[in-house]
Amino acid sequence: MNRISIIIVAIIACGALTASMLVQPISYDGQTPVSSILMALGDATPSHYVGTQDAEKIEKGKDLVMTGGPWMDGKVEYRLSDHFVCIDCHNIQPEAPFADDNDPDSRLQYAKEFNQAYLPGSTLYGITNRTSWFNGDHEKKYGKELVDPARHDLKNAIQLCSKECSVGRELTDDEMESMLHFLNAIELKLKDLNLSGDEMAQIAKVGQSAEEKAASIKLIKSKYLDGYPATFAEEIPTKERKMGKEGNLENGKWIYEKSCLHCHSPQKTITDRTLFGSGKDQKDFKWLASYFKKSNGGSVYWITRHGTASKEHIPQYMPIYSQEKLSNSQVEDLAAYILVESKK
Ligand code: HEC
Ligand code: HEC
Repeated sequence: MNRISIIIVAIIACGALTASMLVQPISYDGQTPVSSILMALGDATPSHYVGTQDAEKIEKGKDLVMTGGPWMDGKVEYRLSDHFVCIDCHNIQPEAPFADDNDPDSRLQYAKEFNQAYLPGSTLYGITNRTSWFNGDHEKKYGKELVDPARHDLKNAIQLCSKECSVGRELTDDEMESMLHFLNAIELKLKDLNLSGDEMAQIAKVGQSAEEKAASIKLIKSKYLDGYPATFAEEIPTKERKMGKEGNLENGKWIYEKSCLHCHSPQKTITDRTLFGSGKDQKDFKWLASYFKKSNGGSVYWITRHGTASKEHIPQYMPIYSQEKLSNSQVEDLAAYILVESKK
C-alpha cells in the first residue's frame, strides 16, 4: 500500500467509527425518568424541577405525604394537617399500565390486580410530569380565585391541596423542597410510556436535528396525560337507579373496601362521626341500602357526587368523586354489592 492509500483507509476507518458512534442509540432503560429524556432533547425545565436526588430530602418528602410529617424538629404540632394525610385521597403508585390511560374501568382493574386503593384524588405518581392541575370542574368546588394560581403551578397546587383539601396549613419552603424531591422521585419512567420499538428508536437516536428533537418531545408527551380532566356529575336520577339489582359484585366489593373503607374504617378518626364503617358490617350495609332511593347524604348515589363540606366543628369532609374517579356504572356496582351484603 502506498502512503496515499493508507491515509484513505485511515479516513474511511475513522468515518466508519464516527458513524457507528452516531447510530448507536442512547441507552435508556425502563427506569429512566421521562423528564431527563425530555431535557436531553432540549425541552424547557419546569419550574418545580429540583435537579438533585438528595436521599434525605426524598425521605422527608415521603414522610410528609404518608404521615403528615412530624419530622420538623420532631414537633407534632408541625404536622401538615390534624385531619388528613395526603394518602387518604391520593395514591403514590401508577394507576394504569401506561400513563395515557385514565379510564375508570381500567384504573379499577389495575387497582384490583396490584391490591391498591381506588381514590377520589389523582395519583401523585407522575404529577411532576403534568403541566396543569385542579382541572375541569374542581374550580366549582374551590373557586376561581384559589384554582387559577394552582392550575399551571405545581407548588401552588400543593399549597392549595395541603390547606384546603387536606384542611391543614401551607408547607414551609423547606417542606416544599422535600415534597418536590419526593414527587420528582416518583415521576414517570420510560416503562410507563406505551412506546413501540420504532418510537423508542426515534427517541433514543443520537444526533437528532432540531426538527427531530421537537418531534421526539412531542411523541413522548403524547404518551401521558398533561393534566387529569375532572367532570363533576349529578347523582343518577332516582328513576334510573338500579337500586342494587344489577352490577358487578366483585367491582363493588373492591370499591367499598378500597375506596369507601379507606376513610370509613375503625382505624380512622372519622369513624367516630360517620354512620358507617365502624366494623359493624351487617348494620352498615342495611343502613346504606335503606337510603338508595334518597337524594341526601345517606345515599351512596348522592354522597359520591356531592361529598360533604368541611365545617368548623367537623373539619373532616368527604371529597367529591368526579366521573373520572368513579363512573356511574361503578356506583351501581357498589350499590349491588351493598344490597347483596345487606341480605346475608
Ligand atoms: C381529603 C382528600 C385530599 C387530601 C387529604 C389531599 N388531597 Fe390533594 N387533591 C384531592 C382532590 C379531590 C384533588 C382534585 C384533583 C385531582 O387530584 O384529581 C386533589 C388535587 C391535588 C393536586 C393536583 C392534582 C391534579 O392532577 O390536578 C395535588 C398536587 C395535590 N392534590 C397534592 C396533595 C398533597 C401533597 C396532599 C397532602 C399534603 C394532598 N393533596 C392531600 C384530595 C385530597
Ligand atoms: C377521603 C375520605 C373519604 C372517602 C374516600 C369516602 N368518604 Fe364518605 N365520608 C367521609 C367523611 C369525613 C364523612 C363525614 C362528613 C361529615 O360528618 O360531615 C363522610 C360521610 C359519608 C356519608 C354520610 C353518612 C355518614 O356516615 O356520615 C356517607 C353515606 C358516605 N360518606 C359514603 C361513602 C361512600 C359510599 C364512599 C365510597 C364510594 C365514601 N364515603 C368514601 C370521608 C370519606
